[in-house]
Amino acid sequence: MKAKVSFRLGLVFGLIVFFSLALSYVYQGRHLREVVFKTVRAGLLHDLKLNAGMLDQRPDGWPDIALSDRWADKVGKALDLRVTLIDLDGRVIGDSYIPTEKIPSIPNHRDRVEIKSALSSGLGESKRFSETIRENMLYMAMPVGKPDTWAVLRLAKPLHDIGQVEAQIDRGIEGGLFWALLLALTAGGLSAFFLSRPLGRIADAADRFLHGETEVQIPVKHDDEIGRLARAFNYLSEEIVRLTRKEEWLREVLSSIRESIIVTNASGEIVLANPAASRLFMIEGARKRSIPVDHIELPEMRELFVRVHARQSGIYNEELSVMTARGERVFKVTAVPVVKGEQFDGTVLVINDITRLRNLERTRRDFVSSVSHELRTPLASIKGYTETLLEGAVNDPEHATAFLRIIQQESEQLTALINDVLDLSRIESGKIIYNFEPVDVKPALEKTMALFEPAASRKGVRIELNVPDGLPPVLADRNYFDIVMRNLIDNAVKYVDANRGRVRVSACKADQNVAIEVSDNGIGIPQADLKRIFERFYRVDKARSRELAGTGLGLSIVKHILLAHKGNVEVRSKTNSGSTFTVTFPIAGKEAASST
Ligand SMILES: Nc1ncnc2c1ncn2[C@@H]1O[C@H](COP(=O)(O)OP(=O)(O)OP(=O)(O)O)[C@@H](O)[C@H]1O
Ligand SMILES: [Mg+2]
Repeated sequence: MKAKVSFRLGLVFGLIVFFSLALSYVYQGRHLREVVFKTVRAGLLHDLKLNAGMLDQRPDGWPDIALSDRWADKVGKALDLRVTLIDLDGRVIGDSYIPTEKIPSIPNHRDRVEIKSALSSGLGESKRFSETIRENMLYMAMPVGKPDTWAVLRLAKPLHDIGQVEAQIDRGIEGGLFWALLLALTAGGLSAFFLSRPLGRIADAADRFLHGETEVQIPVKHDDEIGRLARAFNYLSEEIVRLTRKEEWLREVLSSIRESIIVTNASGEIVLANPAASRLFMIEGARKRSIPVDHIELPEMRELFVRVHARQSGIYNEELSVMTARGERVFKVTAVPVVKGEQFDGTVLVINDITRLRNLERTRRDFVSSVSHELRTPLASIKGYTETLLEGAVNDPEHATAFLRIIQQESEQLTALINDVLDLSRIESGKIIYNFEPVDVKPALEKTMALFEPAASRKGVRIELNVPDGLPPVLADRNYFDIVMRNLIDNAVKYVDANRGRVRVSACKADQNVAIEVSDNGIGIPQADLKRIFERFYRVDKARSRELAGTGLGLSIVKHILLAHKGNVEVRSKTNSGSTFTVTFPIAGKEAASST
């Protein structure tokens, strides 16, 4: 590019110089030729007048041709001219170019143009080919003799001589021209080069900028047009870099927003979508071209876009339930029109996936209604028995004792339920501060087993503990570890048959964990219920569980405690042959310390 401009400039300069020199050459040549001719002519006229003056009186002895011709020869030789003398009849009486003996045979000159006009006007001039000496000549003639003209004197110079002078002049000019041309071309080329160099620098900088280099600055050396151009380039490149950074920043901000954001233009097409929106609607985000709304796969969303677009004013809010590939989802859509000046210029849609929030709300509602339901049953029973007692049964000691025992049982159940609910909500809320410490599994289990001993032996259930020595301690909160084990052993004892039941608790090391198994030979859990028993209030056989003072919260508490301990709980079971619950706790390492 640089080479091209300097080459073109050099060429243009060269051509201009060449043509102007050629023009001046033509003009000057012509002018010089004229000058030469005029000088020669003036010299010729001067010589003519001088010599004519010398012949005012006819010299003695003339018209003897020998004398007049000798005079002509002498003058001709002195002036290096052709000198011719012609008498008034047109006869040549002397000629410096022609020997004396041949003079008489020269044709009559009366009709020669210069002679004629010399005689008629006093001066004759002619430029023509001489038949006598066969050469182009410049003739000048004037009459001689005062007061009476007695002859005509004619001087002639061969044009050939003038031509030689001209040729010499031409050579001089040509030489000068050649050097001038060479000099002008060199100077032109150099100035073109120096002129185009800063331009080339700007072009290079632009190239580098286009290829992604951002720190491109051109040094501004002068305040001329090129300097101004460089300054403008610097400013623009800085501005572009700044805008690009801003755009990148905006894109990052948009990418980090979890809500889906979509911007449409005045004709309702999508012009911008952040990554969250792109994922949700399976469209490509922030592209150069706008995307027609038809590209959105979900029909409800397409309709929403059309609806929002049709409004063009005011803030729009809607909750939309949509069936997606990931199941049913609930979206909260807020749309704000973009107004440029007075004109509607599109819409900004913020789409929030509130499925989780809605699910949580539902769970909370369910939970409250379950709790209320669970509370109502024992309360109703307490109320019923109290009324019966008040109506007179209190006076029947036998029944009264039985009724009071039921009331006591129901209140125990209520207390257990309320404690469980409180525990669970505390555990679930994540607000419990766990005091993690290394817990020795064997003594902890022995302590828990001892608690169940009386109840088990009353029911005729055999319970055994099988923990090897040297098992590494686990990292757990001692109290919550006990709660987990109590719940599992309690279930096992509860759901085995009286007198035939057997509950076995064992532990072993498994990788980085300790696995504790509680297995029984009880009623088991049907396959279909296995997945749900960890849900709150879920009981396989409501009547039986209630009979056993169960609320259906135990396993739910177990699950949450193990989550907080980075442990796990699994169950294997078969109806009528027993269940095995396995919980794992991580082994306490060196870093075991109290943490939340
Ligand atoms: N070892 C087991 N054998 C058979 N079924 C069991 C066993 N453990 C739990 N289940 C079933 O899972 C259900 C949920 O157990 P969970 O411990 O959560 O509640 P619960 O024992 O009924 O009441 P509680 O809140 O007093 O523990 C029980 O109702 C029962 O149907
Ligand atoms: Mg239980």
